[in-house]
Amino acid sequence: MTFAPSMDDLMTGKDTPDPLKYAFEQKRGAHAGGPGRPPLAPEQAQQRLSSLLSAGVTSDKRRALYVHIPFCRVRCTFCSFFQYASSRKLVDQYFGFLLQEIERKGRTQYAQSAPFHAVYIGGGTPTDLSALQLTQLGQALRANFPLTSDCELTLEGRINKFDDAKFNGALEGGFNRFSFGVQSFNTQVRKAAKRLDDRESVMARLTELSQSGLAPIVIDLLFGLPHQSTSIWQQDLEDMLATNVSGVDLYQLIDLKGTPMLEQCEKGSAPPPADTATKSQMYRYGNDFMERHHFQRLSCCHWSQDNRERSLYNSMVKAGAEILPLGAGAGGNLGGFALMQPRDLERYQVSIEQQRWPIMVLLPKSETHLKSQLVGACDKGVISRRLLGGDLYEHARPLFAQWQQRGLAKVSDTAVAFTLAGRFWQVNLCNGLLSYLDTNPLSMEKSA
Ligand SMILES: C[S@@+](CC[C@H](N)C(=O)[O-])C[C@H]1O[C@@H](n2cnc3c(N)ncnc32)[C@H](O)[C@@H]1O
Ligand code: SF4
Repeated sequence: MTFAPSMDDLMTGKDTPDPLKYAFEQKRGAHAGGPGRPPLAPEQAQQRLSSLLSAGVTSDKRRALYVHIPFCRVRCTFCSFFQYASSRKLVDQYFGFLLQEIERKGRTQYAQSAPFHAVYIGGGTPTDLSALQLTQLGQALRANFPLTSDCELTLEGRINKFDDAKFNGALEGGFNRFSFGVQSFNTQVRKAAKRLDDRESVMARLTELSQSGLAPIVIDLLFGLPHQSTSIWQQDLEDMLATNVSGVDLYQLIDLKGTPMLEQCEKGSAPPPADTATKSQMYRYGNDFMERHHFQRLSCCHWSQDNRERSLYNSMVKAGAEILPLGAGAGGNLGGFALMQPRDLERYQVSIEQQRWPIMVLLPKSETHLKSQLVGACDKGVISRRLLGGDLYEHARPLFAQWQQRGLAKVSDTAVAFTLAGRFWQVNLCNGLLSYLDTNPLSMEKSA
């Protein structure tokens, strides 16, 4: 009997003359991967995390630290990451607790047993910390955790009020990569989204920071924002180029549930964001632009202009590396568990005061190492035979052939390389492949 795998449009994409626009309806959420196991009860979670942290690392996976700073001065209308409006008092108080957590976690056997390859300070807006706090934070992390000699230490944030004192303070702390959310340079688009500063100030400051040559400066741009016409998007890319940043992320606007922007659109007080077909064309333009200017594509949505930008942390996260979380609202992944720390500041602070680990959820991970690696591979736009292993690669060939036929990938004996359309729909392709492997386990083919 020959093996006839079961497949549907959610795995293969639709058969359409324009796969970039229409292969799928919209970006599909993460593949659930079968029923997950329930989170540990609070006391059990404390004990399990204590035992994970008192053991040395068992895997040779690369690992990173993630530190969360949950404050922003003003909430941008499109953003679902916003947690707390910053006030000096709130930030200072939080910072004290964060340093305590850094010291406590740094003393564990888990922390000391192997070096970390990357550190990422994300938010919120970490650049809202004071210059002195930026120095202290970097120094505390370097003093308490072993880091590799080429460790990437990223500070995320925005240009607003990021003056020389803060830049120098962060450099003194050891930060060696700066990632600024710009979203759009256009002043009208920025104002409507409640971004601070106008186009000229953002461009001037980014140019200054890049020209200093002191560290790679990378930025995030969004496409699909209200008021952001195609010509504004084209100008955004030209503006990015003019600032001479080392790298850029091009993100399509998604996940608007619960954001002020969605509310404004529903009330009719703001124009709607772009639909998926329009965003696909903006993505095409972005890709062509990067190619024309000889940027190097590091993933489906990230490009580097020079060899200073490695984007190490982002690719490690996508590929399921161990991440030790620090701070309220930080998420991580260690010893086969997903760990989410409390988002609520008071809950976080009480845990630190009581010398307990700040845990909101500790969950045994249901996904396999292979799944994490596939997510990382799809994020890069290439699934190699070496990664899947010969048997599984051949087993998935019927699906790959459908992708090729639908213009989403080019398949060879060594790898599946996503086309432009495949890269735009990479999350759907990844989920399609995972569903295919669930629905058609390798054992089925062997018994056929
Ligand atoms: C957590 S934010 C922090 C950035 C920084 N606070 C800032 O103001 O730019 C990181 C990135 O998430 C992206 N982001 C936020 N909301 C998004 C959305 N609705 N869709 C896609 N990307 C989004 C933005 O590009 C942003 O730069
Ligand atoms: S984009 Fe940045 S500054 Fe704006 S709300 Fe989100 S995290 Fe805060």
